[in-house]
Amino acid sequence: MDQKLARRRFLKIGGATAAALAGSVTTAGIAWSSPTAPPTRLTDGVFTLGVASGDPLHDRVVIWTRLAGNPLALDGSGGMPSRPVAVSWEVAHDERFTRLVRRGMTMARREDAHTVHVDVGGLEPARWYYYRFRAEGQLSPVGRTRTAPAPGDLPSSWTFSIASCQNYTAGYYTAYQDMLAGNPDLVVHLGDYIYEGGAQGAYWEHMPFRTAQRPAGPTMTLYRRLHWGRLATINMLDTRQYRSDHVPDIEADGPAAWDPDRTMLGTEQMRWLVDDLNTSTSTWNVLAQQVPFFEDPDVGAENDKWDGYRVSRQQLLEVMASGRPRNPLVLSGDIHANRAADLKLDFDDPESVTVGVEFTGTSITSGGQAAATVRHDPDPDNPHFRMAGTGRGHVAITVTPQLARADYRIVDTVRQPTSAARTVTSYVVEEGRAGLAPA
Ligand SMILES: [Fe+2]
Repeated sequence: MDQKLARRRFLKIGGATAAALAGSVTTAGIAWSSPTAPPTRLTDGVFTLGVASGDPLHDRVVIWTRLAGNPLALDGSGGMPSRPVAVSWEVAHDERFTRLVRRGMTMARREDAHTVHVDVGGLEPARWYYYRFRAEGQLSPVGRTRTAPAPGDLPSSWTFSIASCQNYTAGYYTAYQDMLAGNPDLVVHLGDYIYEGGAQGAYWEHMPFRTAQRPAGPTMTLYRRLHWGRLATINMLDTRQYRSDHVPDIEADGPAAWDPDRTMLGTEQMRWLVDDLNTSTSTWNVLAQQVPFFEDPDVGAENDKWDGYRVSRQQLLEVMASGRPRNPLVLSGDIHANRAADLKLDFDDPESVTVGVEFTGTSITSGGQAAATVRHDPDPDNPHFRMAGTGRGHVAITVTPQLARADYRIVDTVRQPTSAARTVTSYVVEEGRAGLAPA
C-alpha cells in the first residue's frame, strides 16, 4: 500500500482531529485543482522546522522535512499556501554534497501539512550520509543519518540513546546536545515525541516513518522491526493504539489487572512479537516501547503501565524465560524518571528466575527542571527494582556481542539553551546472563 493510501485510511479512522484534517484534504484539493487560484509565493524561511531522518534499514532510510514559514500560524497552515510545493532532495557522502549518492523530487502537500517523507533506497549498510532539501530556491539545513549494518554482519558495537517525553513548554531540549556529543548510531524515541493535546493523528506528519511496511489494520501501523545486523533485533512496539480501554483507571493488583482480555499490544501485534521472539537468532532482543514493563512497587498500576495488563505481560515473561530469545532487553519511558529493573518470571517471588532487564529513561523536558537523584535498590521488598532516579536527560546504551551497558545521563539544566550533562549511574548486563550489575 502506498503512503498516501495509508494516510487516507488513517485520517478516515483516526478520530476527531484526524477528521478535521481530512476536511482540509478536500479544501486543499479544491484550491489545487481550481484554475482560478493563483499559486502564492512561499514566504522566506520555509525550513524553520529543520530536517529529520529515521526508520533505518541496511539499504535505506526515510528523510523528512516539513515546510512551514510560520509553524505556529493559528489556522494550522504553517504559513503555507494550500497548493502543493515541489521539493527536491539530495543524499551525499559528504556535508558539502560534492559526492552525491541519490537525488530526486517529491511534492509537499497540504493534506500532509506540507511534510515530505522520502524513503531513500539503494544505500550502503552501516554508513553515514548527509541529506538536504530545496523548495523554490530555498535550501534546508543539512541532516546526517546512518544506515543499519548488513543483515549477516555482527557489528563489534552498537550505540544508541533512548529519549522520551519532550514537552516543548517545559524547557530546552539540552539532552539532545549531550546525545549528539556521544555520536550514537541511532536514537530510539519511546513516546511523547509530541504531546497529544490538540494534535492527535499527527504522528505521521511529524516523524520520519515509512508506513507501507506491513498491511494496515484498523489504524495506521506504527510498530515495526529493525535489525542491527545479527547483533540486535529492535521491536518498536505500539502500546498506544491497540490497548484495552483507557478509562477508568484500574488498580495495580486488583482483579481487573488480571483480566485475560486486557491487552497492551492487541492480538495481531502480540502474535507478531511472540513469533519473532520465539525464532530470533539475534544476540540481543530489544523491546523498545512506551511504558514501564516491570512490576513497579512505587506506582499503583493503571492503564499506562504493564502492571495493568498482567496476563499479557506474563505471556511475554514466559517467552523470555524459555530462553528462545537471547538476552531480552526492554526499554521504556513515559514516567519522567529513571529506573532499572531485573525482569522476573514471578515478580512476587524474590527467588524467581530473572529472564531479562529493563532500562527506563527519564524525560527530555517533561516535568521541567529537576535535580538529579539516584537511589539504588530502593525497595527491599522488591529486589528486582534496582534503581530509581530523577532529573532530565537520556540513557546512552552501548551493545556489543558480550555486553550491554546503560549510562544514565542527566543534564544540569533545561532552563538554558545549553547545558553540561553527566552520567549519574550505569548498569551492565552480560550476554547469556540475565540480570543487571552495577558498571
Ligand atoms: Fe510524557
